[in-house]
Amino acid sequence: MCGIAGYVGSRVVRDILIAQLKKMEYRGYDSAGLAVVGGGGIHAVKVVGHVSALEQESINQWLPGNCGIGHTRWATNGRPSTKNAHPHTTSKVAVVHNGIIENSDELKVFLESNGYSFEGETDTEAVAKLLDFYYDGDPMIALNKVAKRLKGSFALGILFFDATDAIYALKKGGPLIIGLCAGENFLSSDINAVLEYTTRYYVLEDDEIAIIKKDHVEVFDAQGVQLSKTENVADWKADLIDKQGFSHFMRKEIFEQPQVVTNIILENIRDGIPDFEAAGVSDEYLKRFKRICIVGCGTARYAGLVGKNWIEHFARLPVDVVMASEFRYQNPVLFADTLVVLISQSGETADTLAAARLVKDRGISSVGIVNVKGSNICREVEHVIFTQAGVEVAVASTKAYIAQLSVLFLLSLKLGFVNGQLAQDRIHSLCNQFIDLPEILRQVLREKEAEIQKLAQACVEYESIFFLGRGLDYLLALEGALKLKEVSYVNAQAYAAGELKHGPISLITDRLLVIALVTQEAVKEKIINNLREVTARCGKVRLLFKAGMQIPADLIEQSLQLPALEDFLMPFLVAETLQLLAYYSACAVNANVDKPRNLAKSVTVE
Ligand code: AGP
Ligand code: GLU
Repeated sequence: MCGIAGYVGSRVVRDILIAQLKKMEYRGYDSAGLAVVGGGGIHAVKVVGHVSALEQESINQWLPGNCGIGHTRWATNGRPSTKNAHPHTTSKVAVVHNGIIENSDELKVFLESNGYSFEGETDTEAVAKLLDFYYDGDPMIALNKVAKRLKGSFALGILFFDATDAIYALKKGGPLIIGLCAGENFLSSDINAVLEYTTRYYVLEDDEIAIIKKDHVEVFDAQGVQLSKTENVADWKADLIDKQGFSHFMRKEIFEQPQVVTNIILENIRDGIPDFEAAGVSDEYLKRFKRICIVGCGTARYAGLVGKNWIEHFARLPVDVVMASEFRYQNPVLFADTLVVLISQSGETADTLAAARLVKDRGISSVGIVNVKGSNICREVEHVIFTQAGVEVAVASTKAYIAQLSVLFLLSLKLGFVNGQLAQDRIHSLCNQFIDLPEILRQVLREKEAEIQKLAQACVEYESIFFLGRGLDYLLALEGALKLKEVSYVNAQAYAAGELKHGPISLITDRLLVIALVTQEAVKEKIINNLREVTARCGKVRLLFKAGMQIPADLIEQSLQLPALEDFLMPFLVAETLQLLAYYSACAVNANVDKPRNLAKSVTVE
């Protein structure tokens, strides 16, 4: 979601802020801005649109000073406009904000009764004006008073007009780190945005207030007690964010999938058996659990559903899969022998993070399956299994999903093994098939792309699309439909094929296309019968099926055949195919493939 940047030091502040904001651009935003304090006041520049527009707009502006803050906004309160863009300024303060102030209406009424008026519609404007109201020359007093009055989630970067050597930061919810360097320091909502300058950093925790100067950083708790913070060192490099000749990040990331699976194999298979010891997830640890609860949002949750199928099959452990946004408010029933698995690409999704905190507070064991190192969820869980997918730039998750599936597949085998449900030769056979997977994923990319592109062209001609499947195919249908609507805006829904006749069949007409996933031997006949129900009502059907399956001649026309693997491994091939289908559908309607409208890469608000 939006990004916060801050810099204090002797370089050109504007240039460093722009560089940091560019590193966070891929997360999705609608407007951008920066402010520098110096030369007798605060100077701000704001634009609707890209950081490059901010760069242009600020190039000839007078921005004196050694200290500044920057922001990319993903609108929550108030439409994208220059007025609503951050920083929000008064003559005394400038504020950038990540999150939502839930009591901003109440604060606005209070401020109006004290002579303030509001130019825009954002909640953040109330924070700036409240600070202005309380500021009488001592930033800490003003910040403490404001902190007590704010409800909701907020990560704030603040400048005061007469404190020209410091950035102030305050947070509750939403990530903030302080990058540490000799003679200069940084504020950021993402450690990866400052890795070019430093690997040393502090993590700001909720209710802490930081004063960041070029030579030192002080952090205080809510009672004003100075804290001695632990310095972290990032032991990874910032990934190169470059399309490397691909027309879009989404296609590039789909093509990276075979390598991602290889990374996971190298990291997590030893002697032909899954091994998570490096992540602290030992056999002894896994043996303790009698049930699993998987929590995530969107695509991450859909990966969790596939994981449930595998774990229940291979390990015979009961698994719940819960949306993080529901989990946190439903007072979940968790037992001492429950393992909660939190899945997140970004590691910052607000609901998943809140779920991780709830689980920790209850003293329940948790493992994160996370892609972004240094992210907040990693700090809240007992152990983290990293998905090794590298930076995922396109808003639509592709390689991170395949990586989540890969980890879940190996974890399900491991659980099956430690529970005595899977014999050694069976686990070796499944692992060996998994080791062959990267090559087969490559084969699909090589041999099927043109056919998928043709199918995509057909998809965008229809008003709506149903994805149908049974068993694992249904779970893949969910992800396929999400991906398609996310990037191409085609109205797509997923149904378990057996459910069709319980309602959705009323929508079948010749203006609706059904994409049927048929890769699971055990339910093949059943789904074929369901498809007959569709064709009998003039519905158009295209099949994605496993090579070697006997498919009736009338259904096989314009269908796509995938290489045959054991049923449990087919989800990987189906996923890759449906990702390409979504990608080419988005291209066919000239959509903004990598940054679909209204979406953000990392959802740091509820
Ligand atoms: C995926 O294509 C989506 N953009 C979205 O559903 C995403 O998976 C979800 O927001 C969860 O994000 P996370 O994995 O970073 O927690
Ligand atoms: N709620 C604030 C706004 O709408 C901040 C949004 C964000 O996190 O970018 O401006």
